[in-house]
Amino acid sequence: MSILVCGGAGYIGSHFVRMLCDQGDDVVVADALFTGHREAVDPRATFYPINIADEVALRELFEAHDLQAVVHFAAYSQVGESMKKPLDYFENNVAATLTLLQVMRDFQIPHLVFSSTAAVYGDPGNEDLTEKTPPRPMNPYGESKLAMERMIHWMAEATGMTYMSMRYFNVAGAWPDGTLGEDHRPETHIIPIAVNASLKSRPFTIFGSDYPTPDGTCVRDYVHVMDLVAAHLLALSALQKGAASSIYNLGSGSGYSNGAIVRAVEEVTGVPFPVTYGPRRPGDPARLVAVSQKIRQELGWTPQYESLRAIIESAVRWHRAHPEGYSD
Ligand code: UFG
Repeated sequence: MSILVCGGAGYIGSHFVRMLCDQGDDVVVADALFTGHREAVDPRATFYPINIADEVALRELFEAHDLQAVVHFAAYSQVGESMKKPLDYFENNVAATLTLLQVMRDFQIPHLVFSSTAAVYGDPGNEDLTEKTPPRPMNPYGESKLAMERMIHWMAEATGMTYMSMRYFNVAGAWPDGTLGEDHRPETHIIPIAVNASLKSRPFTIFGSDYPTPDGTCVRDYVHVMDLVAAHLLALSALQKGAASSIYNLGSGSGYSNGAIVRAVEEVTGVPFPVTYGPRRPGDPARLVAVSQKIRQELGWTPQYESLRAIIESAVRWHRAHPEGYSD
């Protein structure tokens, strides 16, 4: 019996695949390598360089393996890009997931762990977000993930499949020894960009300084990629033991402003860097902070790397060891 990981060559997916292989599971990875890296895929996994929107290739994969569950990370995930290319997000995220679900239905795969996002909540003002906060996406990325969640929900109602939808807040950090990490091209996320500004003297701009937050810059809730993927292992195991479908927020419960991120990166690297203040980035809510009590209580999730410093230290380790990122 195997686990299929869609998007297993991506930043979060590759960390999850390694963790699954470490615990002895048989892992199959499907990744079109639009944004992922072949080098990031654990060599113990069986790798298919396919797009999950390719129904013929996907059916062949499902025929070839006795799959007990799917963990689905494959998607475009940049808020700013989604504002410029909304239809790409509906095609690559929603339409491709529809194909995946149809194949899962036909092969009667009993469980799905789904990579969702805090972007489904939109702009909640100062409210801390629980899973009961009504979703009101304010960008096509969040809208596409919400549509995927709803498709999964209704398919599960009809087929008896069970799922867990994991709404991530801001994921950062790297495998602790610096051998896996974050390498988006182009990079859009604040922590890797700030780390590169510090280590490689690259320019750095904070988008927006007039938000209704204490220092005027956006506030986000950062979760270490290792804690995030550990939560997926818990979700998978709970589903396999018969847990009901559920939705979980995954964050730390602490909000850090973009200005605070800059200071924290400078502290870890010891290298200050100049900061420019630019206009707001379209689609950005002012503040996103999670209440993640539900997954702690129901699945026993206990983050191991809760401090912002620990997250940034691991990111710096990865960037120092891989100044140019992955080789592919
Ligand atoms: N930012 C800058 N300068 C940069 C890059 C980012 O100021 O060079 C700012 C952004 O404008 C935003 C904050 O840093 O205010 C965080 O931006 P990121 O791009 O790092 O992350 P997002 O909050 O936009 O998005 C991330 C994931 C999404 C997820 C979301 C949920 O990419 O998939 O977190 O909070 F939906």
